[in-house]
Amino acid sequence: MSKLKIAIQKSGRLNEDSMKILKDVGISIDNGKDQLKASAKNFPLEVFYLRNGDIPQYLKDGVVDVAIIGENVLVEKGQDITVAEKLGFSSCKVSVAIPKGKSYNSIKDLEGKRIATSYPNTVNQFLKDNNVKANLHIINGSVEIAPNIGLADAIVDIVSSGSTLFKNNLKEVEVILKSEAVLAVSPQISSENQAILNKLQFRLQSVLKARN
Ligand code: PRP
Ligand code: MG
Repeated sequence: MSKLKIAIQKSGRLNEDSMKILKDVGISIDNGKDQLKASAKNFPLEVFYLRNGDIPQYLKDGVVDVAIIGENVLVEKGQDITVAEKLGFSSCKVSVAIPKGKSYNSIKDLEGKRIATSYPNTVNQFLKDNNVKANLHIINGSVEIAPNIGLADAIVDIVSSGSTLFKNNLKEVEVILKSEAVLAVSPQISSENQAILNKLQFRLQSVLKARN
């Protein structure tokens, strides 16, 4: 019998909430986080633990059928992937931040500046929409350190509690987008697995309703 292949974040903030919602819909997963792949005991589901940034490509290629992922990751690299369900957890923003001591009046202040980010497509679109030209410096993590080491004038990164900005003496000056966890679907899903997805979604919807 066919199984629905679901990707969830291997480690990080989304991982815990993703495991929790699967548990809440009554699906118990066989083994722990050390394994990169696990099977559900009581539902036709296989879980793949993957890096966030890799998940959109796996969806596009049909390596996995669905994924629990932040909308922000889809905005960055998941064009043409559909969202089946908003999941209401792991909400965050993708924001522009600058050193606390610097003044800021409008987006135009970013003209000609160096912006460090892990979200180049999102930033480029934002700059284009606002008719601003800036220089991107792409780094994969710990982006907030960039202004303090003279690498950038501003950053664009995820803001959740705001504590990383605070600790690095930065202030949020623009919110580019707001994001939450979603259930995303591969354009290549088979009709057999779509039927399993429908069952999963039905269960998710009643859990989400109860949470509100
Ligand atoms: C993420 C993100 C921000 C921070 C936001 O980083 O890149 O830096 O969390 O959360 P906060 O507003 O609650 O502080 P993460 O800790 O996952 O590490 P990374 O940037 O090295 O991937
Ligand atoms: Mg970070």
